[in-house]
Amino acid sequence: MRLYLDSADLAAVAPLLETGLFSGVTTNPLILQRAGVRLADVPRLVAALTSAGARSVFVQAVSRDADAMVDEGRRIAGLGEQVVVKLPANRPGLTATVRLARDGYPVLVTAVYHARQAVLAAEAGAWGIAPYVGRMDDAGRDGLAQVGEMQEVLAGSRTLVLAASIRGIDVVHQLALRGIDAVTMSTAVAEALLVDRLTDRAVEEFDAAARTLAGPASGDDSD
Ligand code: G3P
Repeated sequence: MRLYLDSADLAAVAPLLETGLFSGVTTNPLILQRAGVRLADVPRLVAALTSAGARSVFVQAVSRDADAMVDEGRRIAGLGEQVVVKLPANRPGLTATVRLARDGYPVLVTAVYHARQAVLAAEAGAWGIAPYVGRMDDAGRDGLAQVGEMQEVLAGSRTLVLAASIRGIDVVHQLALRGIDAVTMSTAVAEALLVDRLTDRAVEEFDAAARTLAGPASGDDSD
């Protein structure tokens, strides 16, 4: 399962990218707003994230109609070969996805809430879909079950499932158990994912033992 970071906070993202465990960074207008990043800052953000080790950066178009989304999507894609355009799973977003995908631009169809939208995104030629697991739960839908159905619906297609709106490491665990292709998470969830108190305790024991192993090699027992 590929791991991504859902954040535009470079200071928080950079040390996580440095681990080499995260394939890239996903953003959207909410993520930009939380990080205080304006649309005019996005080109500089993409460059900074790429320099920090992001192998792919996802940038969402903010236009509302399909024609404008296509034009904006082309501009976003022009920010770099590692940039993936994000478009919402509504009618104009799916229409723009058809046109951009046909021209070879990778598109992540986002704000996906039902498996039927996965069918539409695959038909549109989308690179992937971003189901909002936490928000499905908030709306009374079983997010994990819905994402499992989306993965089933997309089996055999080239459209990947990149689960988003992840509220904790237990959700990452459940997504992995379901064979979901990828997940994007906040830096807080990513930091929590990297820690296990039992592993830390074992490492402390290793360190304590290693400190007793210093000094010259023990004598050769052979006579
Ligand atoms: O990428 C999805 C994110 O913007 C929404 O996550 O936790 O606000 O539902 P959340």
